[in-house]
Amino acid sequence: MTDASKTNESSNTNNKYEEIISNLPQDNGWKPFGKLYNYQGFWYAPSLLQNVISAQQSFTPQPKDFILCSSPKSGTAWLKALTFSIVSRNQVDDSTNPLLKKLPHEIVPFMEIELAQNSSNRNLDIPFVATHIPYTSMPKSIIDSDCKIIYISRDPKDVLISHWIFDIKVSGIGLESFPLEEALEQYCKGVYPFGPYWDHVLGFWKASLEFPEKVLFVKYEDLKTDGPFHVTRMAKFMGHPFSVEEKQQGVPEKIVNMCSFENLSSLEVNKNGKYNLPDLPTVENKSFFRKGKAGDWKNHLTNEKAEKLDQIMKEKFSGSGLV
Ligand code: A3P
Repeated sequence: MTDASKTNESSNTNNKYEEIISNLPQDNGWKPFGKLYNYQGFWYAPSLLQNVISAQQSFTPQPKDFILCSSPKSGTAWLKALTFSIVSRNQVDDSTNPLLKKLPHEIVPFMEIELAQNSSNRNLDIPFVATHIPYTSMPKSIIDSDCKIIYISRDPKDVLISHWIFDIKVSGIGLESFPLEEALEQYCKGVYPFGPYWDHVLGFWKASLEFPEKVLFVKYEDLKTDGPFHVTRMAKFMGHPFSVEEKQQGVPEKIVNMCSFENLSSLEVNKNGKYNLPDLPTVENKSFFRKGKAGDWKNHLTNEKAEKLDQIMKEKFSGSGLV
């Protein structure tokens, strides 16, 4: 194919997406991202939405891939670090682990970012793909495959604060342009990138109940309180269980320590490195490591506001078994 015909094909594809997107419901209340579009029940910035549709149409996983899923700011980088360390534990040691030199996002690419236009654009030795795409919009190639899915969820109040601060920083719009009250209002309506949170979480929660061999549901807060137990659970689910000797040698604990917020955030790469994404602004790696705590929302939300959010989640999760 000549360069000219490639350019034509790509501009036809872009036009096709633009046409689909221009007919979708819009909202511009999540200010750091400008206009968002509602596609299949979830909100997206237009450039990412093109990639989501493209992934739905053409992404093909490798048969043994693990698909790491999350709503943004729920602990995606942490999940990447932990699962990568579990699977690669016999190939790397404490001094050669790539996590020492690379941001977890550089090791495990996002389906709708790095791989959207070209799913072969990846290191096939690393059997991981990450995504923020909701379960109900996941490419059929993944749902129909034998690939295992791991989802990380987090207290929505912490997700809101983390999302709000990250988006303000990355977009450079300034706190005064998007006060927390406004962000909370949008969040309660579900109108922010990959929102609504409750539908995102419920999609994976229900799938984990229906297909427990395929979908594992993990909570950020559980990883915080009992990391080794949940790392052991993940390893078993992934088909890489720890042997008795490994447990005696404390391998699950070593993985938890290696991937801890304190350790990862103190590495040179994560203090001073930069993450360059196609079609997105360059982000400083340290932006992905802010506080890493459960309950930081208490420093930002009044009890009244927290209760409002809790009440919404309680209603949405009611009857699902999810607390
Ligand atoms: P805070 O902003 O509350 O600190 P994501 O990776 O999905 O973008 O999520 C980012 C959130 O996960 C940030 O939360 C970040 O600090 C936290 N985080 C990153 N690495 C972590 C780790 N190793 N352990 C716990 N939390 C981590």
